[in-house]
Formats: sequence, structure tokens, C-alpha cells
Amino acid sequence: MRFPHLFRPGRIGALEVPNRIIGSPMERNYCTAEGRVTQRYVDYLAARARGGAGLLYTEATYVDPRGKGRALQMGLHDDGLVEDFARLVDAVHRHGGRIGPELNYGGRVVHPAVSGLETRAPSGVPYAGAGGHVPRALARDEIAGLVDAFAQAARRAVDAGCDFVGIHSAHGYLLSQFLSP
Ligand SMILES: Cc1cc2nc3c(=O)[nH]c(=O)nc-3n(C[C@H](O)[C@H](O)[C@H](O)COP(=O)(O)O)c2cc1C
Repeated sequence: MRFPHLFRPGRIGALEVPNRIIGSPMERNYCTAEGRVTQRYVDYLAARARGGAGLLYTEATYVDPRGKGRALQMGLHDDGLVEDFARLVDAVHRHGGRIGPELNYGGRVVHPAVSGLETRAPSGVPYAGAGGHVPRALARDEIAGLVDAFAQAARRAVDAGCDFVGIHSAHGYLLSQFLSP
């Protein structure tokens, strides 16, 4: 066989995965406007798990509504979202898959019209791709608040039964904004 390890179990740290097939995080726009998991989302990822993917990411999942970038994006910013998130986790687990979210905060690249809220970023540097609005530069205590928002969202993922939590530090979102002048 050309890829002898593909269908063999593996480990990522303490996490055991049934095979090496991973569904990468992809925004699907299948949640509600409040970021809540829908039956459509459950069915979608359950089908991928049933098809044999060993590990499935959900998608860039906002930890605070001000970091929301898409109308029907997934959120984990509120304890009231955990119950429906857990239904998604259970559906994937029933097919033997592992599942977790990719926690995110958009920052300067999200358009304020999507969330109806103020956008915040490391600096007040506009982004033409999001209409050229100028985000407000975060104060130091707000940065600490965001660290806590990531931690709380991670705790909600654990409460929902997730196997892992990813942190989105790429694609020009908040954490990568801190890394780039
Ligand atoms: C519709 C769509 C949504 C995506 N959303 C995310 C996302 O939420 N988070 C992320 O890290 N990457 C996202 N990506 C990138 C994918 O995870 C993946 O890295 C990329 O598509 C390259 O893999 P491929 O060559 O197999 O398509 C998205 C890609 C697509 C096509």
C-alpha cells in the first residue's frame, strides 16, 4: 500500500486518533446568527465521521461576538451554546471520530456590519478587504480579557465533550495580527 500509515491509529500528544485522516477547519455558515450549532451542522460532520475521517475540526469559532466574521459562523462565547455543541460532539463520537473547535477572534479583518459591533485589533490599521474601516486599538486590559475569552471558550469545548481545542493563529486573524507589523 502506498500510504501504509493512513488507516492506522495514531497519537497527537495524549490524544488517540483512529486513523490519520483529518478534516481541516472550514467555516460552513451552518450555525444560527447567535453561533449555535444546528441540525444541519450535526448531519454534515456526522456524515464525514461516518465516512471514516479520524479527526474533525469544526471551524474558526468566535470566542467573543466582536470577533465574528461571518453571519452564520460558529460561536463558543456563551455557556448557553454548550448543549447544542455537545450534540455535534456526540454525533461524531458515535462514528468513532475525534472532534474539536478552532477558537478564533477576527480582529481587523472582520467587517463591523456582520456583528453590528465594534471591531478591535492590536493597532488601528484598516483592512481594505473588510471595507477599509479603522478598528479600535485594544487596551492592555482588553487583551487580558480576550485571553480569558479564549480560555472560557476552551472550557466550554471541554464541557461539550470535545477531544481537543485548536487556536487559530493564522490567516490574518487577531493572533496573527499581533505577529505582523
Ligand atoms: C470554504 C472554506 C472555509 C475555510 N475555513 C477555514 C477555517 O475556518 N479555519 C481555517 O484554519 N482554515 C479554513 N479554511 C482552509 C482549510 O482548512 C484548508 O487549510 C485549505 O482549504 C487548504 O486545504 P485543501 O488544499 O485541502 O483545500 C477554509 C477553506 C475553505 C475552502
